[in-house]
Formats: sequence, C-alpha cells, structure tokens
Amino acid sequence: MDLKSKLEELASSSLEKIEQIEEIQEIEQLRVNLLGKKGQLTDLLKSMRNLEASERPIIGKLANEIRDDLTAKITSKKEELEEIALNERLEAETIDVTLPGRQIKRGQRHVIHQVMDDLENLFLGMGYSIIGGTEIVSDYLNFERVNVPQDHPARDMQDSFYINEHYLLRTQTSAVQPLIIEAHDFSTGPLKVISTGKVYRRDSDDATHSHQFHQIEGIVVDENITMADLMGTLEVMSKEMFGEDRDVRFRPSYFPFTEPSVEVDVSCFNCGGTGCHVCKMSGWIEILGAGMIHPNVLEMSNVDSEKYSGFAFGAGPDRMVMLKYAVDDIRHFYLNDQRFLSQFSTKGEN
Ligand code: PHE
Repeated sequence: MDLKSKLEELASSSLEKIEQIEEIQEIEQLRVNLLGKKGQLTDLLKSMRNLEASERPIIGKLANEIRDDLTAKITSKKEELEEIALNERLEAETIDVTLPGRQIKRGQRHVIHQVMDDLENLFLGMGYSIIGGTEIVSDYLNFERVNVPQDHPARDMQDSFYINEHYLLRTQTSAVQPLIIEAHDFSTGPLKVISTGKVYRRDSDDATHSHQFHQIEGIVVDENITMADLMGTLEVMSKEMFGEDRDVRFRPSYFPFTEPSVEVDVSCFNCGGTGCHVCKMSGWIEILGAGMIHPNVLEMSNVDSEKYSGFAFGAGPDRMVMLKYAVDDIRHFYLNDQRFLSQFSTKGEN
C-alpha cells in the first residue's frame, strides 16, 4: 500500500474512532496514539523521506490537512465530552430544596434542674427570694459558722473534698446561711430565701447515695417563727412535689445548726412502704433535714436570738426526682446517658 493510501486509511479509521468515543480519557489516549511523538500519523510522516522528491509536496500537503483535520476533530470531541460531564455533575449535585431538613436535636434542662426550677417557683409564689452560692467555700462558712466547730464529730459524715487547708467543695447548701442571715435588714421584713445547687460529700455511691448531689436550702428568720411554720411549709412542699397519696413523716433528728431538728421522709415510691432494696427495707426515703435555726448560728450572724427565731431546711432534689419518677438508682442522673435523660423532656422540646 502506498503512503497516500495509508494516510487516507488512517484518517478515515481515526475519524470513525473519534465518532465512537464516549470517555474523555479515551479521546486523550487516541490523540497520543495518533499525533504524539510516537503516534501513528507521526510515524507515517517520517517515512516521507523515502518518497520521490516530486511526490513529497503533494503527500506533505495531504498529511498536513489530515493532521489539522484530526486535531480539530479531537479537540471538538474533547470539548463536547467535557460539556456532557459538566452537565452530568450539575445534574447530580443539584440541591433538592423540597427535601425535609435535617432535624436538629434540642437539648433540655436536666430533670433535677427541672425539679429545682419547680420548687423555686413554688417558693417564689410564697414570697421567698432566690439566692446563689459558690461551690467552693471556706471551712469556716461550711462548718464553723453553722455551729460545727473544728473536731466536732458531725464533721465526720461530711468532711470531704478539700481544695487546701481552708477551702473545700461545699458539703451542704447550709453554707449560705451565715452570710445571708448576717446581711439581712429586718426592718425591711422577714428573711425568706431559697438557694439551690450542687453539694459534695464523701458518700460511698450506691442506689440512693452519690458523692455529688443537689440540695435546696430554705431559710426563714423573723420574730415569732415557730416549728409550726416549718411543718406547714414542708407539708406544702411535699404535697406539691408528690401529691396527696404519699405519706410524709417527721422524725426527730440532730443537726448542729438546728434545735430541735427533724428529718422528713416520704413513703417509698418503689414498694409503697412495705420495704424493698430502694428504701433499704424501711419503707421510707429521707428527702430532707430541717429544724429551728440554732441560737448560736443567729448570734454568730449578729442576730439577736432572744428577739428573732427561724427555721431552715435542706432538701435533696435527687431523691425527690427519684420519688416522683420512680427512678431506682441515683447514679442514672450523672451518667449522661441520653436514653435516660431524654425521657424527661419538657413540653415543646425533644
Ligand atoms: N444541711 C443539712 C444536710 O446537708 C440539711 C439541713 C439543712 C438540716 C438545714 C437542717 C437545716 O444534711
């Protein structure tokens, strides 16, 4: 076959191939195979030197035309394929605005905070103020000023997380008592406050004890405050929290900062009072300690204990939530397990 025929055949077979190609990589490959340094067309052109001098310009012209034509066809095919690919991508990546959005999970208040909020609201309604308090307190405020001097045996139950010699994580919200009593101006009316928050103790953790838990402290001081005021207040609180069908009992107790002192128990939510592992077979669950504020505490806060008297209580919201929702282990509150916590979602939240 002479060179002219070879060129013409290569041209027509190449044009056919270009027609059929559907992938960008293939067209690039074809370009290299035909027009590259070692390409088929390049090869044929090299053999031109064997031609008669008279033939060379004619074949040379033909070869150039073929090369230009193939180059143009390849380029336009490439552009065509690129456009198709771009359109396919645009198609695939369009955002369907009619699809439902991804739902963002909203958090919620921890169930213990919900109960503390409820209690705060209850007491706000009875004319109390809400006050804060720090979790790191001095030994002096946490113990001494509430009538628990150094070496008092009552410290043993609570002596816990010391930061240094004088400061510790408060073991009781009662640590707010001294300064709040001291700061009150009785000419403006009675002192009635609630303070809620976390407290820390060296408790061995079990179903009803945790080294970290919450307290709600109530303090009332004025002239003529009696035990009857305390009992009436606690009854209102217990009924609000647990409804009429739970039994409440007052038990004489001892706290260094109250005299007399009581402990308040509610009948066990789990067994109804017959005795089970939750209430340690007693039928009752202790929810708070309370009493008439000890004259020493008033006097240390510069309040005349002959003229003024008061009551205080410290309740455990953790226990209350357990009672209210029949939670059988206090440790659930602190494990951050969404399956547990999300059960207490409030209205409108999820
Ligand atoms: N602070 C006591 C406790 O943690 C509870 C309490 C508070 C008792 C106020 C009497 C008065 O156990």
